Amino acid sequence: MTDTVGVLGAGLMGREIALVFALAGHPVILIDLTQDALDAARARLAEIVGKAVARGLMPADAPAALDRIATATDPAAVAPCAFVTEAVYEDEGVKAQVLAAADTAMAPGAILATNTSTIPITALAAHVRAERRAQFIGTHYFSPVSRMRLVEVIPGHFTAPATVEATRARMAAIGKTPVTVKDVPGFAVNRLLHVLMIEAVRLVEEGVATPEDIDIACRLGLGHPMGPFELMDATTSSLCLQAQEIMFDAYGERFRPRPLLKARVRAGLTGGRGRPGWRTA
Ligand SMILES: NC(=O)c1ccc[n+]([C@@H]2O[C@H](COP(=O)([O-])OP(=O)(O)OC[C@H]3O[C@@H](n4cnc5c(N)ncnc54)[C@H](O)[C@@H]3O)[C@@H](O)[C@H]2O)c1
Repeated sequence: MTDTVGVLGAGLMGREIALVFALAGHPVILIDLTQDALDAARARLAEIVGKAVARGLMPADAPAALDRIATATDPAAVAPCAFVTEAVYEDEGVKAQVLAAADTAMAPGAILATNTSTIPITALAAHVRAERRAQFIGTHYFSPVSRMRLVEVIPGHFTAPATVEATRARMAAIGKTPVTVKDVPGFAVNRLLHVLMIEAVRLVEEGVATPEDIDIACRLGLGHPMGPFELMDATTSSLCLQAQEIMFDAYGERFRPRPLLKARVRAGLTGGRGRPGWRTA
């Protein structure tokens, strides 16, 4: 399967989604607002691939895949694509605009997927024409996309079973393992993850153990590659708080964010971009 695919948004997620399709042999059209953003994305991808080749994690010919990624600043450039993934800002207004523009340009029957983490797939489907909704679906990747194998495949209310099957097949063809999940807040993985993170913060509040020791416990006792506090720092505590607030709204008490997490976010101790976090000074 080497047809052309499109990716809308060349940020942290979009650029690596483009990369995994290119590594699987697809010509890719990668779209962002400015040529500067696209050039920065290409430079970052070259760095990621270079490091992965040096560490033996990607084959020696992997850099050639970057030549399969073309760039554009107009979402209508996805017109020739049979499969398009949207990965722009997590803002329904921004997504609505980009999805509508892509939908109008795409051929009938082409699949439009969104990488949203928190907006219901059925809500986003409202921003494409009625005739696209059977081919509209969620594909929730995990960061870093070039290393994490899971993709949650999320049908919305209108998604056709054939779209689910075709999307799962595409995920398998690019080396990912799909799991099909209902369109519920947090999907499946974030529901599991935030229960763990909330309890980890509660352990610190109660003085049961330090963040360092809880991270060690999760790595060595549960076989997790990273502890919950390291992960909160990597993804930022503010993003974690936002996710927990959405799930608290949806599910109630069991996702109530801990007061210590709220206080730390208010104090700017969020981790990410050189900011101090739980484990980073
Ligand atoms: N960061 C994560 O770990 C993660 C994991 C899973 C899903 N997601 C989801 O993926 C999506 C993207 O997240 P990200 O972390 O890559 O964000 P990001 O801020 O790194 O990238 C977003 C990109 O979209 C571009 N963009 C914004 N408006 C645009 C427009 N109108 N047209 C074209 N490009 C536009 C921005 O310039 C930016 O490069 C979000 O929906 C997010 O919730 C993120």
